[in-house]
Amino acid sequence: MKGLAVIATPRGNGNSEIAAKIILDAAGFEEKAIINLYDLSIKPCTACYKCLFQKGCTIDDDLVWALEKIDEADGLAFISNTYFMGINGMWKLFSDRMLLLNQYKNIKGTPSVLIGVSGIKGWEGLTLSSLAALSFTMELDVRAKADLIATLPGEIENQKEHLIKIGKILSGEIQKEPDGEEFCSFCGSNCFKMSNGKAVCAICGKPIKEGEPVIKSSWSAHGDWLRKKKNEFLARRKELLRIHNRYSKLKYKIKPYRGD
Ligand SMILES: Cc1cc2nc3c(=O)[nH]c(=O)nc-3n(C[C@H](O)[C@H](O)[C@H](O)COP(=O)(O)O)c2cc1C
Repeated sequence: MKGLAVIATPRGNGNSEIAAKIILDAAGFEEKAIINLYDLSIKPCTACYKCLFQKGCTIDDDLVWALEKIDEADGLAFISNTYFMGINGMWKLFSDRMLLLNQYKNIKGTPSVLIGVSGIKGWEGLTLSSLAALSFTMELDVRAKADLIATLPGEIENQKEHLIKIGKILSGEIQKEPDGEEFCSFCGSNCFKMSNGKAVCAICGKPIKEGEPVIKSSWSAHGDWLRKKKNEFLARRKELLRIHNRYSKLKYKIKPYRGD
């Protein structure tokens, strides 16, 4: 069995990496691997939508390699440190490329755990919710989630027992506990917003107390919807081009001069 942890940190053996190692060891995978997104070249999505219709990605970087590793894994630990109340920017670059998921059929249903690592209690922000949104998109079987606090590199060791338990839940050795009330029962996020005077989940729109989520369909169904949009785009191309041209005339964009 292959266990894979994905982290994103500039720190070697910092809190995310140590958490990943404890979880992978506790889960007892025969093969263990960690991908640090900082070691990869991940460029921003160019919104070409070609990955919905053809194999691979038009961007030449390491994202496809990472998705292949994720596709091969039997268990996943997604770990993000909190940077400015949210996931690390490398995780966001990774998440923004997930139109490619369409091409990886083994990822759906993979047992997984999600960990946010923050330095300050109360400043965890959107980290765990963003990982929950990503796992919701990937249709993972999320078995445990935790918002952990560790500031200085190595401090996460204080929570070794908790991480070992999470590793055992990942492998199935320990039964998954039902989510507490702090998590949305549909998508697993723990962030909420107001909509028409009601508190709803910030990710899927499900009202906190009762009612249906706004996002109901699976990611695969969304892929079909996106593919249909291409025909709409082709039919409305001229009209959309007119809008494009209207705004192209406004030359407000600035960028640094690099001699080119
Ligand atoms: C640029 C930067 C921004 C940070 N922003 C937050 C934050 O908003 N909330 C928080 O709780 N911790 C914040 N931290 C602290 C880290 O999340 C914390 O130190 C964490 O343990 C780092 O994990 P790592 O060792 O795996 O990189 C920030 C750290 C850095 C370097």
